[in-house]
Amino acid sequence: MTRTIVITGGAGFVGGNLAIALKEREHGSQIIAFDSLKRRGSELQLARLKAAGVSFVHGDIRSASDLRELPSMGVLIDAAAEPSVLAGVNGSPKYVLDTNYGGAANSLELCRERNAAFMLLSTSRVLPHKRLNDLPWQEMPTRYVWQTSDDVAGYSTAGIDETFSLEGPRSFYGTSKLCAELLMQEYVAAGVPAIATRFGVIAGPWQMGKVDQGVVSLWVARHLFGHQLKYCGFGGTGKQVRDILHIDDVTDLIYRQLNNMDLWDGKVFHAGGGTTCSTSLVELTSLCEEICNTRLQVNSDPATHPVDVRILQLNSALVSQTFGWSPKMSMRDIVNDIATWMREYRTLLEPILNT
Ligand SMILES: NC(=O)c1ccc[n+]([C@@H]2O[C@H](COP(=O)([O-])OP(=O)(O)OC[C@H]3O[C@@H](n4cnc5c(N)ncnc54)[C@H](O)[C@@H]3O)[C@@H](O)[C@H]2O)c1
Repeated sequence: MTRTIVITGGAGFVGGNLAIALKEREHGSQIIAFDSLKRRGSELQLARLKAAGVSFVHGDIRSASDLRELPSMGVLIDAAAEPSVLAGVNGSPKYVLDTNYGGAANSLELCRERNAAFMLLSTSRVLPHKRLNDLPWQEMPTRYVWQTSDDVAGYSTAGIDETFSLEGPRSFYGTSKLCAELLMQEYVAAGVPAIATRFGVIAGPWQMGKVDQGVVSLWVARHLFGHQLKYCGFGGTGKQVRDILHIDDVTDLIYRQLNNMDLWDGKVFHAGGGTTCSTSLVELTSLCEEICNTRLQVNSDPATHPVDVRILQLNSALVSQTFGWSPKMSMRDIVNDIATWMREYRTLLEPILNT
């Protein structure tokens, strides 16, 4: 099938990799990356996009008129975001709300006007932090692990599924994405084909990791380029755990979803590394030391930020069954691929990642 696919945030980490992967796999389709280049380092993607045959449109998702400059499309993938869970926490939340929710609203309206389908890249951070931190856990030598409990809907030691309660605060970032999911349901009722996937942490080459977002990339950059690292929160032990997906596993899932639109039905899915691909910070440090062949002094700060969570792992059974997908890449693959990319592009990346 040939079609036009617009990816907002198409010069970002996920959007840029996705645009290039779709251009390779969707033979004959036109892929358009739309981005304001707000994220430092996104400008580095432009040469890559051009070389791959992806068109680029500069614009701001907060502006409906910028979006209307786009040609007609079959699908719009919403990957433009302020993706930091700390965004707006110590200042105004306006940018994160206007971009993540307002931008999704503009995109959904464009899809309605243009008879296009809508795909939202949502996040595991829509899950309320207190509910996650109230789950039973125990401390192991290198990580915290969840313990069995039969009386919490949507929770098992295999991870959190789509039925977990959404009651309670979750951060401005998480709320902006949940609001976008809810608005999507209204547009589905109005006839716009749509799907949302809540991803766990995503990592891989071309992620411009910084202290508040992109932890795996940040960790590898610090090991390769030097600079300080700190274990923050939960006693400063570095044992908090996240599930991680390699960007190639993410693009593979999205490709499958794009080619099975009859299964969308406005549904919201969970997709994460789950229990098979996860890491604590302490474990990530060991892997980075081995792959980067360096050793850093990692400091610690025991104070836990109010929006932080001890463990977050998703149960992806539903999305796996529905789209015949399962992640293939391990934590070792992820760190190896990031380190290889950073070594190759060191001159360009060091000024951005080592700040
Ligand atoms: N990276 C992860 O771990 C992760 C996990 C779950 C979900 N997600 C979701 O995936 C999507 C992509 O995230 P990412 O990691 O690629 O982030 P990113 O910051 O690398 O990319 C986002 C892109 O959006 C652009 N952008 C920001 N504000 C904009 C605006 N107002 N108008 C137009 N463009 C704008 C930025 O310049 C950037 O290129 C986001 O929706 C995020 O919520 C990411």
